[in-house]
Amino acid sequence: MIRIIPNAFDGAMVFDASRVWPKDDWKHWFTYENGKQTCNDWQNIPSPCALLLNKMLAFPSGEILGHKGLVPDGSLWGGGMHSMSPGTELGLHVDSDHNPNRGWPRMVNAVLFLSQSGGGEFELWKEDFSGPIVRVSPTPGTMIVFATSAKSPHRVAPVSGEKVRKSLAVFWVAAGNQRERADFI
Ligand SMILES: [Fe+2]
Repeated sequence: MIRIIPNAFDGAMVFDASRVWPKDDWKHWFTYENGKQTCNDWQNIPSPCALLLNKMLAFPSGEILGHKGLVPDGSLWGGGMHSMSPGTELGLHVDSDHNPNRGWPRMVNAVLFLSQSGGGEFELWKEDFSGPIVRVSPTPGTMIVFATSAKSPHRVAPVSGEKVRKSLAVFWVAAGNQRERADFI
C-alpha cells in the first residue's frame, strides 16, 4: 500500500533543504557499504532539513494508510537525511520491522524527495517479489507514504547523471504495551 503526495510541503522549504545539503565528505554522514549516506542526529541536521522533518512527523501518515494510534518516531531511527550519490543504488529489501532501541514495531514510512537526480526511482514490489507495483521518480516536493512490513519489498534504482539523490525519511510506530503509571512491586 502506498500513497504518493505531490507538493506535500511548501516548495521554498524543499528548495532550502536541498540547497544546504552537505557534500559527501561531511563528517556527520554515516556511510553504508552500498554507498548510501545518512544522518539522523538532530544536533547535526541543518535547520531547513530539521524543519521539514518536523513537518513530516506531524503529517497524518498512519491515518492515510488506515492505521489508528500510530506515533511518529522522533528518534529518527533509520530515518533523517538520506543521500545517494550517482552510481549508488539500494537493492530490493524489506525494512527492519522495529526500532531496536525502544522495541516499537515500525508500521509506516514516509520519504520526501528533495532533488531531481537522474534515475533513483523508488520501486514498491509485489509481496511475492515477482515485480514492481509502482515506480516513483524522485521529484522534489513529492512524498511517498507506504507500509513498513514484510509485504512491502522495495528498492531504489541506480542513481545516474551527476546529481545527488536527496531525501528525508520518517517512520511511524505502534507504541503500545507501555506502562502509563508506576508499577509498584
Ligand atoms: Fe527501505
